Amino acid sequence: MPLITRVLILGLTALSHGIFIPPTLTGPLPIGVVSYELNNTSLDPVRDLMVSIYYPSSEEKCKTYTLAPDFSTVFATWTDGWLGVPNGSDATMIQCAYDSPQIDNSHYPVLFFSPGYGNSRLFYNGAVQDIASNGYIVVSMDHPNDTDFTVYPDGRTASYAENDTQPLEAFTPFMLKRASDIIFILDHLEENAHKTIPGLEMPLNTSKVGVLGHSLGGATASQVMANDTRFIAGINLDGSVPPPAETYNLTSPFLMLASQGHGIYEGDPSWTTFWESLAGWKHALRVNQTMHHHYSDTVFLQLELRPDGFPANDGFLNGTYMFDLQSAYVVGFFDLWFKGGKGELFAGPSARWPEPIRGRRWLAR
Ligand SMILES: *[C@@H]1O[C@H](CO)[C@@H](O)[C@H](O)[C@H]1NC(C)=O
Ligand SMILES: *[C@@H]1O[C@H](CO)[C@@H](O)[C@H](O)[C@H]1NC(C)=O
Ligand SMILES: *[C@@H]1O[C@H](CO)[C@@H](O)[C@H](O)[C@H]1NC(C)=O
Ligand SMILES: *[C@@H]1O[C@H](CO)[C@@H](O)[C@H](O)[C@H]1NC(C)=O
Ligand SMILES: *[C@@H]1O[C@H](CO)[C@@H](O)[C@H](O)[C@H]1NC(C)=O
Ligand SMILES: *[C@@H]1O[C@H](CO)[C@@H](O)[C@H](O)[C@H]1NC(C)=O
Ligand SMILES: *[C@@H]1O[C@H](CO)[C@@H](O)[C@H](O)[C@H]1NC(C)=O
Ligand SMILES: *[C@@H]1O[C@H](CO)[C@@H](O)[C@H](O)[C@H]1NC(C)=O
Ligand SMILES: *[C@@H]1O[C@H](CO)[C@@H](O)[C@H](O)[C@H]1NC(C)=O
Ligand SMILES: *[C@@H]1O[C@H](CO)[C@@H](O)[C@H](O)[C@H]1NC(C)=O
Repeated sequence: MPLITRVLILGLTALSHGIFIPPTLTGPLPIGVVSYELNNTSLDPVRDLMVSIYYPSSEEKCKTYTLAPDFSTVFATWTDGWLGVPNGSDATMIQCAYDSPQIDNSHYPVLFFSPGYGNSRLFYNGAVQDIASNGYIVVSMDHPNDTDFTVYPDGRTASYAENDTQPLEAFTPFMLKRASDIIFILDHLEENAHKTIPGLEMPLNTSKVGVLGHSLGGATASQVMANDTRFIAGINLDGSVPPPAETYNLTSPFLMLASQGHGIYEGDPSWTTFWESLAGWKHALRVNQTMHHHYSDTVFLQLELRPDGFPANDGFLNGTYMFDLQSAYVVGFFDLWFKGGKGELFAGPSARWPEPIRGRRWLAR
C-alpha cells in the first residue's frame, strides 16, 4: 500500500477504532467504491439490483474523500444477528476503499463478481478490494430473491429465506437469472458507466471482461460465459455446478479453486462433469486448511468480531492470510488473460503459498 494511504488509514483508526477489511490491500493502487440501484423493468417481477463498483483511483484524487464503511447501519445490525456478534460490532468495519473518488482512468479490465447463494455482495467487499487495488474494475451485485437481505438507497429492504437443502438442479433457475443480471449490468455499463463512476472520461472496455464468483456465483461465472462471448475468462470459487452448465464445453480459460474437502474427482460429481467438459485452458487447485466460507469475508469477520474468536475456525487459515492467498491466485489468473501475465502460480507448486494443492488426476490443459 502506498505510504500516504497507510498514514491516512492509521489516522482514521485512531479516530474511530475501526477495523480495516482487508487489513491491508495486496495491490499498489488506492481504490474507490460506488454503489447504486439498477432496475431491470422489462422483467416481471422487476429485477431490482444493488450493484457495487470498485475501481483504481490515485492518492491525489482520494485526498479529500473518506474511507467507506463496510456496511450501512441497517445492514450492519442485520449482520450482527447473522454472525452472532454483539450489536454494534459490524458497524466498526471500515473498508480500504474511498467513498466515490474519481477513477484513475478507464483502461483497467472489468471483472464481475457474483456472491454465493443467499449471500450479500457485501460479504465479499474485502476480497474484491484486493483485486481492484491490483488494477481492475470489479463489479459486484446482489441477486434479487436469492440474497438473504438487501438494503436499497431509499431505505427499502428486501429479505429472502434461503433453502440450502434443495437438490442441485433446483438452483438452475437461480443461476440463469443471475447470468442475465450480470449481462444486464454489463449492457448498462457499456452505455452508462460515465454516469455511475466519478471522473470516467472514456467508455470502459466492455468488449472483453472477466467473471468470478463464490459457490452458486462460481457456477454463474460459467453460465454467463456460455451465454455471452464478451466474458472471456472465469473463476469458480468452490461452487457446485448445476445443470446445464456442465454441458457447455467452454473453450475460454477457466480456473477452479476449491476448499479442503472439495475437488475434481473428490465427491462432487458436478465438478467432475464440468471439469471434463472444459475445452480450453483450465486449472484446478484445492486449498488445504480452508472451508467453503473461506472464499467470503465471513472468516475474517468472525475472527475479528466474535468474542470467542469462533473456535470452529481453529486449524484453518485465518481470514487475513486467505485474503492474500486468494488475491494472489485470482489476480494471477486475470493478469494472465488481460495483462500478458506469465501465470507463474499455475506452472507448479508455489513456495510462497503451500496450501493450494493439485490433485493427481486434475490434469491441467
Ligand atoms: C426499482 O423498482 C422498485 C419497485 O420494484 C421501486 O420501488 C424503486 O424505486 C425502483 N428504483 C429505481 C432506482 O428505479
Ligand atoms: C440488538 O439490536 C436489535 C435491533 O435493534 C435488537 O432487537 C436486539 O434486542 C439487540 N440485541 C442486544 C443483545 O442488544
Ligand atoms: C421475489 O419473489 C416474490 C414472490 O415470487 C415476488 O413477489 C417479488 O416481486 C420478487 N422480488 C423480486 C425483487 O424479484
Ligand atoms: C427446501 O427444499 C426442499 C426440497 O425441495 C423442500 O423439501 C423443503 O421443504 C424446502 N424447505 C423450505 C423451508 O422451504
Ligand atoms: C432485462 O434483462 C433481460 C435479460 O438479460 C434483457 O433482455 C432486457 O433487455 C433487460 N431489460 C432492460 C430494460 O434492459
Ligand atoms: C443462457 O443460456 C440458457 C441455456 O441455453 C438460456 O436458457 C438462457 O435464456 C440464456 N440467458 C441469456 C441471458 O441469454
Ligand atoms: C460437449 O462435449 C461432449 C464430449 O465431447 C459432447 O458429447 C457434447 O456434444 C458437447 N456439447 C456441446 C454443446 O457441444
Ligand atoms: C494440509 O494441512 C494439514 C494441517 O491441517 C497438514 O497436516 C497437511 O500436511 C497438509 N497437506 C498438505 C498436502 O500440505
Ligand atoms: C494468519 O496466518 C498467517 C499464516 O499462518 C500468520 O503468519 C499470521 O500471523 C496470522 N494472522 C493472524 C491475525 O492470526
Ligand atoms: C479490451 O480488452 C481486451 C482484452 O484485454 C483487449 O484485447 C482489447 O484491446 C481492449 N480494447 C480496447 C479498445 O482497449
